[in-house]
Amino acid sequence: MSSANSNTDKPLNLPQRPRRLRRNASLRKMVRETTLSVNDLIYPMFVMEGEGQKVEIPSMPGCYRFSLDLLLKEIAEVSQLGINAMPTAVNYALFPVIPENKKDDTGTESYNPEGLVQTTVKAIKKAVPEIIVITGVALDPFTTHGHDGLVDENGIILNDPTVEVLVKMALSQAAAGADFVAPSDMMDGRVGAIRQALDAEGYINVCILAYSAKYASAYYGPFRDALESAPKFGDKKTYQMDAANSQEALKEVELDIAEGADIIMVKPALAYLDIIHRVKKVTNLPVAAYNVSGEYAMIKAAAANGWIDEKQVILETLTSMKRAGADLILTYFAKEVALMLM
Ligand code: PBG
Repeated sequence: MSSANSNTDKPLNLPQRPRRLRRNASLRKMVRETTLSVNDLIYPMFVMEGEGQKVEIPSMPGCYRFSLDLLLKEIAEVSQLGINAMPTAVNYALFPVIPENKKDDTGTESYNPEGLVQTTVKAIKKAVPEIIVITGVALDPFTTHGHDGLVDENGIILNDPTVEVLVKMALSQAAAGADFVAPSDMMDGRVGAIRQALDAEGYINVCILAYSAKYASAYYGPFRDALESAPKFGDKKTYQMDAANSQEALKEVELDIAEGADIIMVKPALAYLDIIHRVKKVTNLPVAAYNVSGEYAMIKAAAANGWIDEKQVILETLTSMKRAGADLILTYFAKEVALMLM
């Protein structure tokens, strides 16, 4: 018999033919295990001082540092891209570009109630109240030395004194209206200290997105260009995790859950899909993955050279993160993907 569904008169005797379910797009859609939705995406954006500023980040083409006025415009635009016209579909993680003259050794600007992050959060929540705003809690954008913690005279990054500053920073962000605070510094005990302080001040509904398994990674290069926040000496290996470890990621996750994290994050994402997978298996909390600046830059660079099909590679990459177990993805591709999925 010969028809569209048969291509031979003498079929092999195969009880299982996996290709049967791949024959056409409708079937493939029907049995697809993982889908990428705009609801899964969180859009990290960079805010700078001033007015009328939209400055492209050279190592992150398509990403900009916005002054507040233009950031609000961009957010209004992106908010409309949600499937089902859900204005909250793409949510925001905010990172500030702090001018050198406001940086100091201890990052005091980080908890200024009138600081760039605090004013920006207030303005976003006023303009589009239903949008979820996530603020980073770490000192590196605010310190002259570019480290995420306070540094002693020998160049040692101090843990407990840093946690005290992080708590002040998180409280000031909560006061400004942040929905989530996201500690990204990898100091020990910071999630618990922040949770206790938030609760004590009545911010019981402010969530914690914990960068639980954050690796000391070379993939953060373009982000540090964007914020001009690269460490002035040494590296971040005494606080961020060793790329060779995975048991340690589970230990960090366990601690952050015990300390009160609402969402667990693995960062970077692409070179750490195994970690995402393992983390997802040990927790019932939502798991986020951070598709970081270097991962973004690599795709953009190859696409600019015409070496890959950019759209397909973006979708394939983000799908791999969801397949590995991520429920949410922080990605600089959020806007592009929202447009693709519309
Ligand atoms: C700050 C922070 C970093 C990133 C997010 N928050 C850089 C770092 O730890 O040095 C990196 C994000 C990216 O590369 O996209 N602690």
